[in-house]
Amino acid sequence: MSEKNKGDKIYPLGYEPQEVPETDDNDVRNQLLDFILKSGPTEFVDTDLFAVMAKRRSTRKFSDKPVETTKVDKIIAAADTAPTAGNFQGFEIFYVKSVEKKKLLVPACNKQPYVNAPVVFVFCKNPSRVKFDFPDYVLKKFAIQDATLAAGYSQLAAQALGLSSIWIGMFDEQKVMDVLGTDLVPSSILCIGYPEQTKFPKSRRNLKDLVHVAW
Ligand SMILES: Cc1cc2nc3c(=O)[nH]c(=O)nc-3n(C[C@H](O)[C@H](O)[C@H](O)COP(=O)(O)O)c2cc1C
Repeated sequence: MSEKNKGDKIYPLGYEPQEVPETDDNDVRNQLLDFILKSGPTEFVDTDLFAVMAKRRSTRKFSDKPVETTKVDKIIAAADTAPTAGNFQGFEIFYVKSVEKKKLLVPACNKQPYVNAPVVFVFCKNPSRVKFDFPDYVLKKFAIQDATLAAGYSQLAAQALGLSSIWIGMFDEQKVMDVLGTDLVPSSILCIGYPEQTKFPKSRRNLKDLVHVAW
């Protein structure tokens, strides 16, 4: 693949960003990120990534036990470690703390009661952050991938911290935007808390049906 220089960075041809991300701001942000990620102690951390993946189950019943702020911080920081298109981070997270707003999200999410969970994050797309000179539909595609991947990282982080979660994709975008008072379109909602009970992993299709080897 041919490459092109942009400032002191090399990008694949056609992927050169129009604006190179600000390095100064990133330094500050990265210090905070590092601090949060390395901070401890937390009550529980499973550092075996594959065990975390294997044990994660969607949970729709949370206990009343509040989630510690250090864990919330780490879950947010985990989202911030996810790769994003051009490192433009084309997503935003709404951390819904208001009891009232959480209740309002339930009807906005097809009346799913567990949306009113101890911790609620709404991951929104922000294609305007993605400064590539590509058509709008490409920027939107990047933003939805950025937001989705970040939410996935947060979901695994929550599991690693001994929490459980439910991914909510069934919602009325406009209603959620009205509750949050934002123009940003949500891509997913992640509801997190301590599970009332742990569950066995769900079955999946046979790997041979999942993977198509293209020679
Ligand atoms: C894109 C997406 C949308 C989803 N939307 C909802 C939803 O609106 N409500 C819900 O209860 N679960 C939702 N889920 C959770 C799935 O039902 C769940 O992940 C699936 O049944 C597999 O179970 P597991 O997560 O326990 O492995 C969603 C999951 C994904 C990835």
